[in-house]
Amino acid sequence: MERLKCHAFTGAMTKDPILVLGGTGKTGGRVVSQLRAQGAEVRAVSRPRFDWTDASTWDDVLTGARAVYLVPFDGRSFTAPFVERAVALGVERVVLLSGRGVDTPGYADPDNPLVATHVDGERAVRGSGIEWTVLRPGWFAQNFSEGFFRDAVLAGELRLPAEDGAVSFVDADDIASVAVAALTGDGHAGQTYELSGPRALTFAQAAAEISEATGRRIGYVPLTREAFVAELIAQGLSAGEARDSADIIEPIRRGMDSHLSDGVRRALGRDPRDFTEFAKAAAAAGAWDAAG
Ligand SMILES: NC(=O)c1ccc[n+]([C@@H]2O[C@H](COP(=O)([O-])OP(=O)(O)OC[C@H]3O[C@@H](n4cnc5c(N)ncnc54)[C@H](OP(=O)(O)O)[C@@H]3O)[C@@H](O)[C@H]2O)c1
Repeated sequence: MERLKCHAFTGAMTKDPILVLGGTGKTGGRVVSQLRAQGAEVRAVSRPRFDWTDASTWDDVLTGARAVYLVPFDGRSFTAPFVERAVALGVERVVLLSGRGVDTPGYADPDNPLVATHVDGERAVRGSGIEWTVLRPGWFAQNFSEGFFRDAVLAGELRLPAEDGAVSFVDADDIASVAVAALTGDGHAGQTYELSGPRALTFAQAAAEISEATGRRIGYVPLTREAFVAELIAQGLSAGEARDSADIIEPIRRGMDSHLSDGVRRALGRDPRDFTEFAKAAAAAGAWDAAG
């Protein structure tokens, strides 16, 4: 512990690394890039070195780390035992990636395993006794370019049970910037940052923005929940996975994902990046090139 106490939490000042879980993922990868750009020592991990489902890999990545960016494993409650090991091994600060609405009555089903992961994880970091910050982003803009919706964008048609519900998509670059501020700066301990973009878009509007940025026509087809679940099962998901996916889209249909949150401004003192800028940058970077 002594090695840590004599250092300020400025990324460049100490060789004790900041551990970044999900280091190849949408937010973790950006946290790694931003920390390295500041000259911080970073230990970026994902499989096979670190595997959530194999607890024998945990101590090695935690040993010597002073702070952790924690991207949880959805559907399981691994965060609490992991945080316990982190504290035992001398980690002093944790920044947890959670999700919007985890404590909003009626937003999402607390029995849904994806939601339970975040509820349990938040409880674990808040009770850890070390410095913690919780990030609660809404839907990432990068789901269109790197995640769940990308194949549909490439196929030219988003097919979702969202009707004309709007979403205040947040840019993963902004989530990473808030994480980096909390990992390296002062004044973020004990904060819960609700994160969104600066405006809400329906899927039809998001599709139109990506069409404009790429020059290719992307459409939006609203589906019933039943049709959506059936399509996911036909694509190879289990019935349970398909229903869980439908469940997390349900708040969008009910208009519960359209509100704006002030976390980016509170943490960084600036406005979040707009979806139009995201779509142009992703298109310019080749995110929707067919071979990408
Ligand atoms: N996407 C959204 O819109 C959104 C919105 C709010 C909250 N969230 C939350 O953000 C978190 C991340 O979700 P995401 O969709 O953005 O995923 P992601 O971070 O883009 O990808 C998951 C990361 O976890 C790693 N990983 C996967 N399985 C692993 C395992 N068994 N052990 C260790 N690492 C593993 C992956 O790397 P390898 O495959 O290389 O191991 C990858 O780096 C989730 O908890 C999610 O609930 C997401």
